[in-house]
Amino acid sequence: MTEKMTLAVIYGSARQGRFCDTVANWLIRELSASDTFSLTIIDPARLRTSRGLGAAVNPGEWLERKIAEADAFIVVTPEYNHGYPAALKELIDSVYEPWHAKPVAFVSYGGASGGIRAVEQLRQVFGELHTVTLRDGVAFPKAWSKFDAAGNLYKPEELRAPLFLMMDRLTWWARVLKQARKSKPYNEVAA
Ligand SMILES: Cc1cc2nc3c(=O)[nH]c(=O)nc-3n(C[C@H](O)[C@H](O)[C@H](O)COP(=O)(O)O)c2cc1C
Repeated sequence: MTEKMTLAVIYGSARQGRFCDTVANWLIRELSASDTFSLTIIDPARLRTSRGLGAAVNPGEWLERKIAEADAFIVVTPEYNHGYPAALKELIDSVYEPWHAKPVAFVSYGGASGGIRAVEQLRQVFGELHTVTLRDGVAFPKAWSKFDAAGNLYKPEELRAPLFLMMDRLTWWARVLKQARKSKPYNEVAA
């Protein structure tokens, strides 16, 4: 059996009472049986308070190591005023080289647009960090109307098709880029 790759699920919102937990929990449930990826969570709310990281852990070092260990990322982001949350920008900007030559996919949510304007802005940012952003993602317009009070989707099948498409392509990129990074470190490609 081939070794599993590491997939980091990055929370976009650090707001109290955030809907991000509902969307991320759905994603994590869907991916928990993956033969391809081991999941790890990166949550800006935990980083801010260091809660759950352990008292002796430096949040900056922890984040750097988590990004470095990951082979692929899924950013779960809401839309705030046609952009993405400041907490997410702070997290992204805290690390540089460990992002390089890795794929990033998006699960977005919000009002009518389903967060896709936030995603389009994130593509620009992640381009600067030498990542590959995936065309295929999952968007939840009027996200709050899609889940019941227990956090389950009313129509889970509707979202599985875009999720599986995104995951197939994310897997392809993660494998290809992991192999490529191994054969030649990305920072040696050009001076
Ligand atoms: C400050 C703020 C601005 C928002 N702006 C937008 C927006 O421009 N477009 C949209 O579709 N939804 C917008 N919303 C709705 C959010 O996408 C929705 O409330 C979402 O659940 C927020 O994510 P969170 O609860 O995980 O923080 C906004 C919400 C907030 C709090």
